[in-house]
Amino acid sequence: MAELKVKRGDITKLQVDAIVNAANSSLLGGGGVDGAIHRAAGPDLVEACRRLHGCKTGDAKATPGFRLPARWVFHAVGPVWNGGGLGEPEKLASCYRRCLELAREHGVRTMAFPAISTGIYRYPKELAADIAVRVCRELAEACGVERVEFCCFGEEMAEVYERVLGGI
Ligand code: AR6
Repeated sequence: MAELKVKRGDITKLQVDAIVNAANSSLLGGGGVDGAIHRAAGPDLVEACRRLHGCKTGDAKATPGFRLPARWVFHAVGPVWNGGGLGEPEKLASCYRRCLELAREHGVRTMAFPAISTGIYRYPKELAADIAVRVCRELAEACGVERVEFCCFGEEMAEVYERVLGGI
């Protein structure tokens, strides 16, 4: 079984093989965790992203991490929450699945996810954490990933993940 754990703080500081970005379909940067990752990685990141020509909702694409401690960034595009009846759960699950597939392709053993879609895209935290944990439990090991860190920016998100992971 892959180890799944909660990590508090800023994802740009984590010493893992890959971090996941909660991007938008342009892949050219934005606010939230996307802005933080671009600032920390430096200007080469946006140049690498430009060459990817965007990304569909539910998909993910890889770039190097440049100045980040992480070797790779997997840019995933989560769904905007619109009540849940427009395929949001499937699209969010697909983001996690695609990132694990990228991990397998790039030989990544340790990786960290932010809570994709739960900020600017308004996905309810508990529902999003359920999906994140379910997909990672099901697929991480098969993709060669030994440790998944759910990076939580704020105590409320960390408590949600602890609960979903069954820690408390
Ligand atoms: N480290 C870890 N988590 C973070 C960090 C950080 N440095 N900063 C924020 N978070 P969001 P979304 C958390 O809004 O909802 C961008 O403009 C945050 O508290 O970053 O998928 C993109 O370009 C929340 O729990 O992403 C898109 O346009 C989680 O990361 C749009 O926002 C995700 O929040 C994507 O929206």
